[in-house]
Amino acid sequence: MEKLVINGGNKLNGSVEINGAKNAAVAILPAAVAASKGKCLIDNIPDIEDVHCLERILLSLGCKLNKIDNNTLEIDSTEVHTYDACTEDVRRMRASYYFIGALLTRFKEARVELPGGCPIGVRPIDQHIKGFEALGADVTIEHGAVKVKAEKLVGTNIFFDVVSVGATINVMIAAILAEGITTLENVAKEPHVVDVANFLNSMGADIKGAGTDVIRIKGVEELKGCNYSVIPDQIEAGTFMIAAAATKGDVTIKNVIPKHLESISAKLTEMGAEVEEGDDSVRVKYSGKFKGINVKTMPYPGFPTDIQQPMSSLLSVVPGRSIITESIWESRHKHIDELKKMGADIKVEGRVAIIDGVNKLTGATVKATDLRAGAAMVIAGLVAQGETHITDIEHIDRGYPHIENKFRDLGANIIRVEVDE
Ligand code: EPZ
Repeated sequence: MEKLVINGGNKLNGSVEINGAKNAAVAILPAAVAASKGKCLIDNIPDIEDVHCLERILLSLGCKLNKIDNNTLEIDSTEVHTYDACTEDVRRMRASYYFIGALLTRFKEARVELPGGCPIGVRPIDQHIKGFEALGADVTIEHGAVKVKAEKLVGTNIFFDVVSVGATINVMIAAILAEGITTLENVAKEPHVVDVANFLNSMGADIKGAGTDVIRIKGVEELKGCNYSVIPDQIEAGTFMIAAAATKGDVTIKNVIPKHLESISAKLTEMGAEVEEGDDSVRVKYSGKFKGINVKTMPYPGFPTDIQQPMSSLLSVVPGRSIITESIWESRHKHIDELKKMGADIKVEGRVAIIDGVNKLTGATVKATDLRAGAAMVIAGLVAQGETHITDIEHIDRGYPHIENKFRDLGANIIRVEVDE
């Protein structure tokens, strides 16, 4: 076991390179299984535990992997020999459910253990199932696994009851080899939905409209390998933007798509930070005066739920009152108890956190209760006086590549240490 130890108080300065998007990569890797010919050469893959987990699942299905470097992977799925993904790795992570869509579209059959992931609320997959059934699959849940089987998949119109990133991507993948045309309505528009659609199109799929409310998929006969580069991570970028503001620093965040960061830039600007957009970078600078703000999480292009927890660390040291309303997940305020151990003044009422900014946080031993909660603790530790010890950092490693090195390069005093079990 490991923990992060931070000696807070250093202003962050300099520049940081953002890696490929976790939530795009964790869908693209499973989707590569749909290619029956050729190899997929994918780069800008983040070097994170969720990706390592997917690599093990791909191997268990019979894919051949050639790891070119830490961020580039060649996947040959021509000899996939099982439709059964039921391993400890599958149970451990959320995105393993994308194997259902990928195996279903190619083999018309799959058995995939129900997924795990961050404990941030009830995480149903009813909309995924609704989509698979509408395409013609029989879906059953037996012994903790989802079983899907179809004589054939036929395109149809599907209107999702809720806007779901996972259901949009999974059903889009399932429909690429279906007969005829599938129309998905009320879909998620997140940048990673568009990225997965672009990847599938590079493999030969015919998908239009990703990034709008309606996605139209014309079924094709087969998919083949391709070369693809994953988009930059909107959430990793947002985390560094918030950390820059929280430490009253001056940081240029490089290799980003500024358009994807607009909702975060807008809130930081409203709070009083200076945000400068470049072509593929954003610079966040302390302006001398911050004030409390209200933030409500919404599907893209709204303020991302995945940035809400880091934002609460920042707002806990911003003068005045801030209110954060979490509208996507019902239990995404668990990190608040940890922030309170550091002196934050926050009340949680249901999905709302009322934050009264304090002059300082003080170092404490705190837990990363989930992935983004872990990022929130790192930001709190960077700001706090004295030493902060963050435990349970395996959550952080699932989604942030080499987080301590990146913060250290910006001037933070942060180290990773082994702890006795
Ligand atoms: C994805 O989760 C992300 N994970 C999450 O990021 C992110 O918080 C979330 O989208 C929202 O942006 C991955 O991409 C791997 P949803 P997902 O389906 O797809 C309800 C992180 O920190 N819903 O968009 O599981 C659901 O309960 C992670 O990187 C249904 O009701 O989220 C929620 O309220 C955490 N039925 C809402 O929709 C369904 O079938 C949005 O969930 C599916 C979802």
